[in-house]
Amino acid sequence: MKNMGLHEIRKEFLNFFEEKGHLILPSFSLVPKNDKSLLLINAGMAPLKPYFTGEKTPPNNRVVTCQKCIRTADIENVGKTDRHATFFEMLGNFSFGDYFKKEAIEWAWEFLTEKMGIPEGDLWASVYLDDDEAYEIWNKVIGLDESKIVRLGKEDNFWELEIGPCGPCSEIYVDRGEKYGCGEANCQPGCECDRFIEVWNLVFTQFDKDESGAYHPLEHPNIDTGMGLERIAAVMEKADNIFEVGEVKKILNQVEKVSGKKYGADPTTDVSIRVITDHARAITFLVSDGVLPSNEGRGYVLRRLIRRAARHGKLLGIEEAFLNSVVEKVIESWKVEYGELKEREGQIKKVIKAEEEKFQETIHQGIHILEDYIEEMLEQDEKRLSGEKAFKLYDTYGFPLDLTMEILEEKGLFVDEDGFNRYMEEQRKRARRAREEFSDSGWKNGSSFEEIEGYDTIFKGYDTMSLETEVAGIFIDGNMVNSIGEGDEGILILKKTPFYAESGGQVGDIGYIEGKGFKGKVIDTKYTKDDTIIHFVEVEEGDLNLGDEVLAFIDIDNRRDIMRNHSATHLLHKALKDVLGEHVNQAGSIVLPNRLRFDFTHYEGVGEEELRQIEKIVNEKILDSLEVETIEMSLKESEEMGVIGLFEDKYKELVRVVQMGDYSKELCGGTHVNNTNSIGLFKIISESSIASGVRRIEAITGRAVYEYLEELEKDIDNIAKIIKTNRKDLIGKIENITEELKEKERQIDSLKFKMASSAVDEILNSKQEINGINIVTYKVDNMDMNNLRNLGDEIKSSLDTGVIVLASVDSGKLFFVSMVTKDLVQKGIHAGNIIKEVASFTGGGGGGRPDMAQAGGKDISKVEEALNIVPSIVEKQVK
Ligand code: ALA
Repeated sequence: MKNMGLHEIRKEFLNFFEEKGHLILPSFSLVPKNDKSLLLINAGMAPLKPYFTGEKTPPNNRVVTCQKCIRTADIENVGKTDRHATFFEMLGNFSFGDYFKKEAIEWAWEFLTEKMGIPEGDLWASVYLDDDEAYEIWNKVIGLDESKIVRLGKEDNFWELEIGPCGPCSEIYVDRGEKYGCGEANCQPGCECDRFIEVWNLVFTQFDKDESGAYHPLEHPNIDTGMGLERIAAVMEKADNIFEVGEVKKILNQVEKVSGKKYGADPTTDVSIRVITDHARAITFLVSDGVLPSNEGRGYVLRRLIRRAARHGKLLGIEEAFLNSVVEKVIESWKVEYGELKEREGQIKKVIKAEEEKFQETIHQGIHILEDYIEEMLEQDEKRLSGEKAFKLYDTYGFPLDLTMEILEEKGLFVDEDGFNRYMEEQRKRARRAREEFSDSGWKNGSSFEEIEGYDTIFKGYDTMSLETEVAGIFIDGNMVNSIGEGDEGILILKKTPFYAESGGQVGDIGYIEGKGFKGKVIDTKYTKDDTIIHFVEVEEGDLNLGDEVLAFIDIDNRRDIMRNHSATHLLHKALKDVLGEHVNQAGSIVLPNRLRFDFTHYEGVGEEELRQIEKIVNEKILDSLEVETIEMSLKESEEMGVIGLFEDKYKELVRVVQMGDYSKELCGGTHVNNTNSIGLFKIISESSIASGVRRIEAITGRAVYEYLEELEKDIDNIAKIIKTNRKDLIGKIENITEELKEKERQIDSLKFKMASSAVDEILNSKQEINGINIVTYKVDNMDMNNLRNLGDEIKSSLDTGVIVLASVDSGKLFFVSMVTKDLVQKGIHAGNIIKEVASFTGGGGGGRPDMAQAGGKDISKVEEALNIVPSIVEKQVK
């Protein structure tokens, strides 16, 4: 066997088939073009489908490629075994209606035995059950012994994707020797053990499968072959598995280095090392091909891979973001074939780092909560995590369901997925309802002015603030008229206009329309239902006739304020997603000159710290002076770019994307500043709830912030003036005043007490003696319960034996305290029962121990009377 590494094998393969008349095509992007059936390219033939079906003419009838592929069907197993991978390269030679089985088999054999030098005796082949033709070629033409040709069923030897070109196939296996085998007598290709490794799949593409699953014969038969580059490299390097292949090992070694863990030392850490090794290649190539992390489609695949790798980093004990150090190794090695990796290195690392860091925050919070759940489940011997909890983790903490599932699985637990899906669906409905209720989210949902129809206005307001044009329509009180004069109010329609009509949450422009001797003030601008722009005008001077030339100019300051707020809304939207999570979606917005209002979906109130962070990010983006550009593109392109937008809504095929530096990209028809620095400053003024799961933020920008600061300063100066100090000493002074106030209260309290105490003698003098029992009842003023009790204690200590009931009216409240000396308690007198009756006499309640009790009363006017019944209560108790 020749001594060849992965990159050399690739080169050898391409050259070999080039010599056999094949055109070498570079690997296609992982992102399929014009193929809705596929999320990511998963086979060499996938980007070539139109050539197989005849839909397109190939550049050559024979093509050879080495294609980047990603398969995520069993992502859960990646890492757990050393056989699974998400990313791999597939070597393939293709014939579009040119050569067929004989050449395909002959050349494969020649390549493996002669170019790779694999001993003939190590090779086996399988064919589809009744494919005698292939069987004969292997046996008669190649000379492979009958004992080494296996017939296998559809499961193994019929190759197909969901839809598209497919057919029976023949696979080539390498026998790695008995030491890898299971030892069973019937061990042969198709066996589950590791002895026979399938390296090459030759597909005799004869059919085209449609969506219903029906097979249609193709006009000419084709050849589609696929050989896993890593697998053949493993064979050539006599490596046990793909993770031991030299180039792959370089990545693995880096994972060992950053984690300080040795591969092969512990089966658990091995899983994590393999996950990171595999995912590092997948994420590098995905970002290089333009995929960005998101919550949908291939963006989600990327997000999931990055997060899965990051989490396994955590499991290995890596604290910091580390993925880029591994990604660097991928780029270093694979750039020989994929030069673009080096060119895009900066972008690749930026994207991966950002996602990894974001995830670190998420995971930090989410894992704690999940651990609590797990603990609870283990305690209660419960195996299933409720859909509600899994959803809460996802929705509130951005913790992905698959991660929850994976972590639970490690503990032998699982998630109620149906339950989760129900919550998910409800959330979607809620968001939709919220959008409908509060929405002006789509642009141009014009207010209807039923009577006005059939006009056309060209909007020029994206680039100009004033222009000359002609009057195309005049309406007064809903009636079409020919002229409008001083003092009238009406609607004007122009051929062209710089006035932005209310839409997408942005209010309509104001300004002036002037003609010869005519001056009309525009107080609002709106769309009719057929998208005509109408100006609401109050005529200040002169007359205007249909067809007149006019100058239309908007109030520039007003519009600039609006633009500031609108651009700030986009930054806010993005910052909300960054800080709270991707689940945040716009539910509506209003962009006015003096403030903006943004409604969005979020589970709970936004915390103070988060609000500060959001505000800070927006201000940083303002200070970063990001260029604001608007680009028109197809809806599809914008989706691929990861533009923020409510894609299920009513956007047109051609959309306008407003992009602010690298930060925000959003579908929008509104008007914006040219550079974020024009926004000036951004200040959140309120955050509130407007419906279940929908929050609202109100904020100001530019001049409004300046005015806000001025107001604030004025207030501060006024406060300083009132308390006779200056701004600098304000806080110290207020602290002093508060302290002084507290001190004064303490003094007042003790004075009140002293005053009452000085009344102790007087109170004692009021004592009555009934049946030999001393009874003291007394009402004091302005004593709280505490002081009243102290007073009671004092009286009690001056009285050898007796019953005391005191009342106090303090700040409109009525308190009672009752005390009984020990000797009388023994005689059956009960303070708690006394006070109960006394208090209830005034409509209150309370009670307590036999020797001490307190209560609250109600009707202050009954205090005296209540105290007067004490002797009779005592009498009753003695009996
Ligand atoms: N299309 C075939 C495969 O992916 C070659 O295995």
